[in-house]
Amino acid sequence: MSEHFYSQLTWELPGSRPLIACNMVMSLDGKVTAGGALKPGSLGSPFDLETMHVIRSHFDAVLSGGQTVRQHPFYLGVPAELEGARRAKGLAFQPLSIVLTRSGQLQPDTPLFQNPPRPPLIITTPEGAASLPPEIEASSMVETLAEPTPAAVAQLLWEKHGVKRLLVEGGPSVNFQFMQAQILDELFITLAPKLVGLRSDLTLAMGGQLLPQPREVELLSVHRHGQELFLRYRLHWQ
Ligand SMILES: NC(=O)c1ccc[n+]([C@@H]2O[C@H](COP(=O)([O-])OP(=O)(O)OC[C@H]3O[C@@H](n4cnc5c(N)ncnc54)[C@H](OP(=O)(O)O)[C@@H]3O)[C@@H](O)[C@H]2O)c1
Repeated sequence: MSEHFYSQLTWELPGSRPLIACNMVMSLDGKVTAGGALKPGSLGSPFDLETMHVIRSHFDAVLSGGQTVRQHPFYLGVPAELEGARRAKGLAFQPLSIVLTRSGQLQPDTPLFQNPPRPPLIITTPEGAASLPPEIEASSMVETLAEPTPAAVAQLLWEKHGVKRLLVEGGPSVNFQFMQAQILDELFITLAPKLVGLRSDLTLAMGGQLLPQPREVELLSVHRHGQELFLRYRLHWQ
């Protein structure tokens, strides 16, 4: 089998915080959900799923928002066959799986919390921590921040958890905050040959304000596989 085009990624690390990238699959009409959620195969192909794993294989940690985790309560990890490649890069065998939640409304009887390869990290507020089910507190690490802004989350992960590369995997409201804070360095997009059209479906970044524009958006690479396009952008904010 030929090597995946994302097997050998190189990074310019910022130095005082983690490098932060985001990976999302999007339809031709710009939607990241189809009918209110992202179900297996509803947008991306099996190759897109493989690509998501290869991208994860470069990162110390993978973060998702509470809403995404409630819909997909799985460990944000890599298949066993990518663990060796991670170790060869000096990374832990699996990325740290992180959930960002204010409410603490997470389900303990889901694969994320039942026999995860590493204890997941929950980042929440003091109020959210008080609402976490006790089984989750027992099986996970919990960090509280008075205000879990992207900058505060990045600083916590850098200083306390040794995270040098952080992958954000949505959803749109979390992506929006990392872009608004101007600390999202890279964006991986899979453009899937699908149409959605439903007004209520979500786009890649969603918030209440116009996003700031990076000084430059650099298209680092374009790969085609079948009818899908795999785009990698660098966002230069300074
Ligand atoms: N196409 C793709 O590649 C892709 C990827 C990922 C997700 N998705 C889809 O995106 C949809 C979900 O997106 P979404 O925008 O509705 O939700 P989301 O971004 O996944 O999660 C929002 C939730 O994250 C938590 N959160 C966000 N910011 C926070 C902060 N600063 N501090 C603490 N907690 C914070 C809150 O969780 P609590 O509610 O627990 O307080 C909030 O309700 C799902 O349908 C999913 O399938 C698509």
